[in-house]
Amino acid sequence: MGKESSVMKQYHVKCIKINKISTMKLNRLHVFLAAGLFLTFSFAYGQADKQSLSAKMVINADLGKDVISRHIYGHFSEHLGHCIYGGYWVGEDSEIPNTNGIRNDVVEALKKINIPNLRWPGGCFADEYHWMDGIGPRSERPKMVNTHWGGVTEDNSFGTHEFLELCRQLNTEPYICGNVGSGTVEEMSKWVEYINFDGISPMAEMRKKNGQEKPWGVKYWAVGNENWGCGGNMTPEFYADQYRRYATFCRNYGGNNLLKVAGGANVDDYNWTEVLMKKIPHWQMWGLSLHHYTTDWWNKGPATGFPESRYFDVLDRCLKIEKVLDRHINIMDKYDPEKRVALVFDEWGTWYDVEPGTNPGFLFQQNTIRDALVAGISLNYMNQRCDRIKMANIAQTINVLQALIFTKDDKMLLTPTYHVFDMYKVHQDATLLPVNVLQNSYYEYEKSKLPALSVSASKDKNGAVHLTITNLHPSKKLTLNAEIRGSNGSSLNGMLLTAETMDACNTFENPEHVKPVKFNGATLKNNILTAELPAKSVVMIEIKQ
Ligand code: AHR
Repeated sequence: MGKESSVMKQYHVKCIKINKISTMKLNRLHVFLAAGLFLTFSFAYGQADKQSLSAKMVINADLGKDVISRHIYGHFSEHLGHCIYGGYWVGEDSEIPNTNGIRNDVVEALKKINIPNLRWPGGCFADEYHWMDGIGPRSERPKMVNTHWGGVTEDNSFGTHEFLELCRQLNTEPYICGNVGSGTVEEMSKWVEYINFDGISPMAEMRKKNGQEKPWGVKYWAVGNENWGCGGNMTPEFYADQYRRYATFCRNYGGNNLLKVAGGANVDDYNWTEVLMKKIPHWQMWGLSLHHYTTDWWNKGPATGFPESRYFDVLDRCLKIEKVLDRHINIMDKYDPEKRVALVFDEWGTWYDVEPGTNPGFLFQQNTIRDALVAGISLNYMNQRCDRIKMANIAQTINVLQALIFTKDDKMLLTPTYHVFDMYKVHQDATLLPVNVLQNSYYEYEKSKLPALSVSASKDKNGAVHLTITNLHPSKKLTLNAEIRGSNGSSLNGMLLTAETMDACNTFENPEHVKPVKFNGATLKNNILTAELPAKSVVMIEIKQ
């Protein structure tokens, strides 16, 4: 190209200027648009994050058949850490208000939740406990080493009489676990005679001499504990034979029929259940137990101060209980289609690292809203399977593992798990109602997801329908639509347990940080129940006429 004319030059300069201006304008436009888009997306994302989840279900209030045994709401207290000593037992001379050595505050709290049964003395402790060491004048009782739990000295001041006095005060059924691992058939047989025989016999005389004239009439009796492990490291075949022998000499006295429970499987040891169902005559076994803890045995993690990954993991493990229960139940169904043998889920709950600075053998852990969700979900599962599960025991009542109560000197506090038992007590001996979940929502974390909602429903003897629901999503509320068929109830009541943070808990400085409040988030119109369940919440809804 030749030289440009001055006119052309001017033209080009103008064009360049115009282009520059347009480019600048375009750039600004881009920035503007990008910012706009960013804001729109983040707003939308933020909104989506806060958006509620939803679920739909049908509850058949007129189709109930099976009764939820109140014994599903049972408890377990072992000679472990401060469960018995300091938890229940302070002794008659203590300044802490007590009745016959047993703390009044604890008895009052447990009576409020209608504690239906109490398993004792263990756990692993049961298979090294010799009951005769725990009777007679306390000052003369021999001491022993509690080898399983901290190697501390057990002075046997809490024994058979003290335990049965505790059950009397609580108005609860005792559930005693006898020693198979290191005890003899004779020892177990004499314990039953001591407790239940009303005639003239050496054991009955000894009981009377120790201050108890009448037998106690204990019904629930476990023949050993975890005999695949701490209870003797037995094979299922060997234990089944031992069970038949021990159970033979645990006699029924008077009109008292002992309901004997065989020591069951650990988590997913389905072979254990299979062998016991096959080898033990069913007339000799009222129940077969199962133990399952919600934990990662190799890396338990802390009870508080955990990241979301831990929150997700614990709830994920809890939801897996469903499959474990169903597989054991399927095996039992194969050998016992009439469901005469009860599944007794007599150890369940969360298990974390002990609180820093506490004795590792005492298993003391905090209890948060995450534990409340585990309790709510697990109890919903058990309710749903009440045709087979007739008894369960959370581990453990006071100061140990997933405790309901903490004590410290003369102080006592109620944990979030306690409040779940309080809210769920409406199901005790009520009729299970079929619930059909038509649509659930999910809690997604990284590449995994969990169903957000769990539910069970029952109808009590007065016709009131109760729903217990959990929303395990940590940040989203859940809107529930439930059609209640076959009911003309119109009055609504409810309780809600939730918290701001995933690890919210109660401490002696702030003992009522997590506690239930009245639930006002539900409406009922033309038998359609609509409820807004806050994030990480446990809710109980009552529908009455
Ligand atoms: O609950 C604590 C222990 O866990 C029990 O003693 C034992 O049965 C189980 O392994």
